Amino acid sequence: MNAQPAKGGAGAYSWGAATSVTNYAPVGTTYQSVQSGGVVQQPSVVAAPAQNYRYSATSFPAIGGQVVQQPPVTYAAPPVTYAAAPPVTYAAAPAPVSYAAAPVAYAAAPATNTYAAAAAGSYPTSSIKVSAPVTITQSFEAAPPAAAVYAAAPPAVYAAAPPAPAPWRVKLGAEMPNFFCETTHGDFNFHDFLDSNPDCPWTVFFSHPKDYTPVCTTEIGRCEVLTGEFQQRGVKLIGVSCDPVEEHLGWSRDILYREQISKPEGEEFLSFPIIADSSKEIVVQLGMLDPDEIDAVGLPLPARALILIGPDRKVKLSILYPATTGRNFDEILRTIDSVQLTAGQGLATPVDWRQGDRCIVAPSVTTDDAKQRFANFAIEELPSGKQYLRSVDCPQL
Ligand code: BEZ
Repeated sequence: MNAQPAKGGAGAYSWGAATSVTNYAPVGTTYQSVQSGGVVQQPSVVAAPAQNYRYSATSFPAIGGQVVQQPPVTYAAPPVTYAAAPPVTYAAAPAPVSYAAAPVAYAAAPATNTYAAAAAGSYPTSSIKVSAPVTITQSFEAAPPAAAVYAAAPPAVYAAAPPAPAPWRVKLGAEMPNFFCETTHGDFNFHDFLDSNPDCPWTVFFSHPKDYTPVCTTEIGRCEVLTGEFQQRGVKLIGVSCDPVEEHLGWSRDILYREQISKPEGEEFLSFPIIADSSKEIVVQLGMLDPDEIDAVGLPLPARALILIGPDRKVKLSILYPATTGRNFDEILRTIDSVQLTAGQGLATPVDWRQGDRCIVAPSVTTDDAKQRFANFAIEELPSGKQYLRSVDCPQL
């Protein structure tokens, strides 16, 4: 077996006579002396060749005629350990520098006294030598140009943006909005329809959820049957739902059939138009939706809304029923009677009032006035002794 070189000091190795030597010394080892047969070899440093880390025979000291060979050295790459990167702390951004608009004032430059050199020489006017006159010259350093001082710019004043118009809400006294209507009776603007018939200056505008649905079929049929009643009161009808005109027309035949109303072939229309609001723009604008009833694409269906519109295009009465509750059109007629009877008359109608029943005198009308204007004035006696429940015969309109 081979002799192992002895470590002779820090990083230095030496070994004695070797018979057969294989060097196990690591790269960079300095051999202080190598004795072989009494001959001391020159110190030598083990250097690693570039490629295979095996020492060539020539680069290594010969010992006793034998070449000391470096066994293959394998350098395991030490695991690289990266210290955790310290957290990066960003210094707070410097506050924006604001420059005061102070004008720069320069102090008056100090006078510099310059004394002209006195002319040399003697002055013949007397035997007294006088010194030459002294001239004092004052010179001033040029003052720096005055800093420009700008008046502070006036604060910008922006005109307030006009407020967005509030969405239309059904309110008593509100004027109905105008909108384009595609209907079973042709296309027109809603206001034009409101103003279209001097014999029927009032309008009942009502929505229904959907064509070819049972409750709607009974309601629209009832409207068709009551058309004459509405006309007698000076009222025209117009419906709206979100199906196309063709659907409205096809469904109208079912409605007429069911009410046993026959019309000439090709004219099987209802007596009043139905708006085709396929985009739902109108019912959305007018707040006529029932969130509990959803159509095939997940949108709410129209509710059963009804608005009585006066000759001035303003809302006189409004009701809003869910899609699942059909309206009572006798009640609609009754409310129309009440609205038309009482409007501006100083009258009101009591509970369950029907046309012809006694009417209530409004609190705004004095008893003397009511006695003069209406027939059979009466006051109901009450425990409070207050005379507020006053009634008269129903006036004939
Ligand atoms: C109907 O008209 O029958 C109806 C419409 C929507 C919901 C429920 C009923």
